[in-house]
Amino acid sequence: MSHDVETIRAQFPGLAGTANGKPFTYLDSGATAQKPLAVIERMDRFLRNEYGTVHRGLYARSVESTQAYEQARVTVAKFINAPAEKNIVFTMGCTDAINLVAWSWGRKHLKKGDRVLITGMEHHANIVPWQIVREITGLELIACPILDDGSLDMDAFDKLLDERVKLVSVIHVANSLGTINPVKELTRKAHAIGAKVLIDAAQSAPHMRLDVQDLDCDFLVFAGHKLYGPTGIGVLYGKSNVLDDMPPWRGGGEMIEKVTIEKTTFAPAPARFEAGTPPIVEAIGLAAACQWMNTFNWEKIQAAERTLYDYAEAGLATIPGLRRIGTAANRNTILSFTMPNAHASDISSILDLEGVAIRAGHHCAQPVMQRYGVSATARVSLGIYNTQTDIDRLIAGLRKVSELFR
Ligand code: ALA
Repeated sequence: MSHDVETIRAQFPGLAGTANGKPFTYLDSGATAQKPLAVIERMDRFLRNEYGTVHRGLYARSVESTQAYEQARVTVAKFINAPAEKNIVFTMGCTDAINLVAWSWGRKHLKKGDRVLITGMEHHANIVPWQIVREITGLELIACPILDDGSLDMDAFDKLLDERVKLVSVIHVANSLGTINPVKELTRKAHAIGAKVLIDAAQSAPHMRLDVQDLDCDFLVFAGHKLYGPTGIGVLYGKSNVLDDMPPWRGGGEMIEKVTIEKTTFAPAPARFEAGTPPIVEAIGLAAACQWMNTFNWEKIQAAERTLYDYAEAGLATIPGLRRIGTAANRNTILSFTMPNAHASDISSILDLEGVAIRAGHHCAQPVMQRYGVSATARVSLGIYNTQTDIDRLIAGLRKVSELFR
C-alpha cells in the first residue's frame, strides 16, 4: 500500500468528525490506537457470519472458528518472525502477558536472592507483577538508572548485571519518554551471564519491525490495541524451551490434558496458558491488524513517523518555557513535556477544547516522574495516521496554554 497519509487516514473512521466542535486531532496513540476498517470489518464479518467457540465444538462452525483462531496465531508468529505458532500465547494484553511470565516462570525459577533487573523507565506493568511475585519467591527487584536525557545508564547496567540476575525485563520504547532501548545489546549481555530476557514491545510493535529470532529474547510481549487492533488481546512470545519449562498460572478448560478429581495433567504450550474460552474475536482482529500493517513498508512507516516527530519537536521548541522530558539520542513517536505554571492536566484540558487529544498524567510510570521531579507530564504520541496539520493544531493549542498561564 502507498504510504500516502491521507489514504491511510481515510481508513480510520475514528479519526473523522469533531471534538468540542473542532476537527478531532488524535495524538494519544501511545495509550491506544484508532482502528482501520480492515480490522473493524474483519471482526464484524466474523461476529456476523463465522462466530463459534474454539477447540470445543465438533460441528462445522466451531471447527472453522478454531481454524480462524489458530490461523491468527500463525499470522502473529510471522509478524514477529517467531519460529512457530506454538511460540505465541494469546493473553488479554501486554500487562497480562508480563503477569503470566511473573506468575509462571518467575514462581518456578526465581528463589530468594535471585534478581530481576528492570530499568528506571518501566511502566507499572513491568514493575508491579515482580513486586507481587517477590512476596512469594523472595526475588530482589532492581532497576538500572536512567541518565538525564532519558537514556539507559549503560555503565550502571553493566555493573548491575551479575550472576544474581536471572531475568532482565526491559521496555523497548519507553511510553513516558520515547527512549528506544538497545534491546539486542541488552539481550546479548544478559545471555552472557545466563539471564533470561523479556522485552516489553507495547510501544515498539506499532512502529518498527520486530524480529524475535534476531533479537534472541526469551520473551517478548505486546498489546493488540496499540497495534491498531482490538482491546482485550495481547501476545506473549516465548522460546519453546522456555515456555515448555513453565507451569500453568491459571486453571480451567482447554489448558488440560486429563483431569480427575485428584489430579490434572496439562496441555503443552501455548494451550497450557490459555485457560477458558479465549478472546476469539479479538485474536482474529489482531491478526487482521498484523495483516494490515504488513501491507506497508516498515522503512516508509519509520521515515514518515520520524519526519513528523522532527516537525513536532521543532514546534514544541517554539513554546516559551516548555521543558521536554525524554531527549535521548535514540527516541521516537512519544513527546513528553511540562510547561511553566500550567499543570499537565491544564494543558490537556485546554487542548481538548481545541479538539486535540493528548494524554496527561504519570503515564503509569510514576518512577519516571519521580526521577524528573514532576508529578505529571503532557504526552503526545504519534500513530501511522498523524499529519503535520495535527501537529500545527497541537502547537496552536499550546500557544493558547502559554498565553493563559503566562
Ligand atoms: N501504557 C499506556 C500508555 O502509555 C497505557 O498510555
